[in-house]
Amino acid sequence: MIRINVLTVFPEMFGPVKDQSILGKAGEKGMIDIRLINIRDFTEDKHRRTDDTPFGGGCGMLMTPQPVFDALRSVDGIEGQRILYMSPRGRIMDEELIRELSGEEEFTILCGHYEGVDQRILDSWKMTEVSIGDYVLTGGELPAMVLIDAVSRFIPGVLGNEESAGDESVYSGLLEADQYTRPREFEGMEVPEVLTGGDHKKIRLWQLMESIRITGERRPEMLRNWVEKGPELDGFTKAEKKKITELIKTFTG
Ligand code: ADE
Repeated sequence: MIRINVLTVFPEMFGPVKDQSILGKAGEKGMIDIRLINIRDFTEDKHRRTDDTPFGGGCGMLMTPQPVFDALRSVDGIEGQRILYMSPRGRIMDEELIRELSGEEEFTILCGHYEGVDQRILDSWKMTEVSIGDYVLTGGELPAMVLIDAVSRFIPGVLGNEESAGDESVYSGLLEADQYTRPREFEGMEVPEVLTGGDHKKIRLWQLMESIRITGERRPEMLRNWVEKGPELDGFTKAEKKKITELIKTFTG
């Protein structure tokens, strides 16, 4: 069971994501506990404001320290917890960070709004800034949901037995091969014959070759990293290994 505290001025935004589908089930089964904390509940401002204009000028508003500090202090055991601040200035979210977080018992996320937050919030609470990519969103809520979703897949029991988070394409170091389901023929378009033939060794080889081709075409740096790690090609014959190596060479030279 992992507990994730989320500080936000828009707790309603999380409802549909938190309560539906795989995340919803994980919540019901007690595998993940997402606690929403409304920063506005903590403001001492008589107009209930949580933002103010930046010193030095500039457009937009910043979150003020007082409500955020008090909201953080309301979280039991906040000392010693990792606290993340969703921001385009942050470390780009990747598998390593997601795996690290999935190993925590509890962590806290601050969702920024307006143009950002007063820097003293980030400094005093030693927050890790996390970005979900080089583009700017209107707030940290969607990035927080992306992070929570990705973390939840690594919590034991959240995915069904047949699936495992680490087996997924990006995590294995290659992109996935194309996939097909019934019917075998749809409006004249056929499923590749090898997939319906029932020869599992042939299928494995086809899937690996396709993965290599797609990764080589779309993400050459990813293919290079995969090759550098010296992937094991257990279970393939000498001739098959030669075919695989030749395909890799067409991308890496
Ligand atoms: N807040 C606004 N844009 C963001 C981004 N790209 N990543 C994380 N938080 C953000």
